[in-house]
Amino acid sequence: MATSEARRRSPQGSWTSRLAFILALSGAAVGLGNVWKFPYIAGENGGGAFVLVYLVCVFGVGLPIMMSEILIGRRGRRNPVATMGLLGEEESGNKNWYLVGLLGVGGSFIILSYYSVVAGWAVAYIFQGGSGAFSGASPEQIGDIFGGLTGNWVTSAFWHTLFMGMTVFVVVRGVVKGLERAVRTLMPVLLGLLLLLLGYSIVEGNFVEGLLFMFAPRFGDLTPTGVLTALGHAFFTLSVGMGAVMAYGAYVPDDVSIGTTSVIVVCMDTGIALITGLVIFPIVFANGLDPAEGPGLIFVTLPLAFGNIPGGTIVGTIFFLLLTFAAWTSAISLIEPVVAWINEHRGVSRRAAAIGVGAAIWALGLLSVLSFNVLADLNLGWGTYFDSADFLTSNITLPAGGFAIAVFAGWIMSRRSTAGELRLANPTAYRLWRFASRFVAPLAVILIFLNAIGVLAWLGLTG
Ligand code: TRP
Repeated sequence: MATSEARRRSPQGSWTSRLAFILALSGAAVGLGNVWKFPYIAGENGGGAFVLVYLVCVFGVGLPIMMSEILIGRRGRRNPVATMGLLGEEESGNKNWYLVGLLGVGGSFIILSYYSVVAGWAVAYIFQGGSGAFSGASPEQIGDIFGGLTGNWVTSAFWHTLFMGMTVFVVVRGVVKGLERAVRTLMPVLLGLLLLLLGYSIVEGNFVEGLLFMFAPRFGDLTPTGVLTALGHAFFTLSVGMGAVMAYGAYVPDDVSIGTTSVIVVCMDTGIALITGLVIFPIVFANGLDPAEGPGLIFVTLPLAFGNIPGGTIVGTIFFLLLTFAAWTSAISLIEPVVAWINEHRGVSRRAAAIGVGAAIWALGLLSVLSFNVLADLNLGWGTYFDSADFLTSNITLPAGGFAIAVFAGWIMSRRSTAGELRLANPTAYRLWRFASRFVAPLAVILIFLNAIGVLAWLGLTG
């Protein structure tokens, strides 16, 4: 039950309804991870069996961590750094838990510095697609379009700048007038566009083959690395582990059920990833293309298909518009924890914090832009800046943050605090959440780490 202690209030404001929170959190979750990364890693790992493992990871590990992050955020009602310090002190007398918040803020900063560059390509493709550049193009011509975009740093920097500008534009306006208004507009449009594309793919694509590819498990194609890729992606796609969900949790009204909303958001994110696969693969198969193309799947393979299908110009434009909207609401969730922290910690106005943080991320993002051209040969340990930033965040900071959050909620916070904040109607649901937080999620992260160490050794061997 709600405790009698005085509830804190977030200095940033509060979502005006449960729906607003669901849209904001779904907006954070649904992004490049769903539309760009999920289809290509599913493709590379053989489809069906990978999808099955991914579902287990999302519901078994991602969902309980999402609940923990929201409950911590709402209890602290501050930016992730302050919240972790505050609750750490309250629950265990140790303020140093603020470091976990700091890891999240730093990780979000770095993720956005490469996320924005890929999102910028999506924006560029709206215009490429719209101008009919894909129409009847050969594989070489499509390759030249993508190569021309990534290879030319001025062009790539232009789109990255535009995308960061769009993100800051929303965030300066605050939680209700900025974030909430953006997700209320963008998320329904995104869903509508996705269903439109699904209809197209059913009518014009090789839908049965796409369906079989996604859902017929061929376990022979699944490797141990594939399993860990699925687990790592569960964190990324749900946006957990970096304090983004914690920041959004600080703005949740007290009477909103954390369990129910988390289940809705996880289903929404998973559903959108699966539907995106059902849009992409039937079109890929209908055109005799390779589903295991890799990161170029949506920027090279798919445009090739769009160039050869009836109505391809309009369908292609809609696809990249959808991708841009998805990336935009995610980018907002990546910058928000950093902005809230600078605002609350340094006393800088929200507006100035958003502009300053946006400019700093933009500047770091230039290294991502340059990773595909001028600095393509620079090796920061895991390849270019772009590759290193992705590797470091996806495989190290993200799981480490998830681990710390699960351990904090499962082992450090008292039963009274977590049960009081979650207020799950069903005692079994609470027991399941606690078991997942204490054992399943931490163990899963340890597995990711062992894998990452293996990858490091492998990289060391091969240079
Ligand atoms: N989940 C988003 C996607 O799938 C990316 C994202 C947004 C994210 N916020 C995050 C990833 C916070 C990790 C942490 O594209």
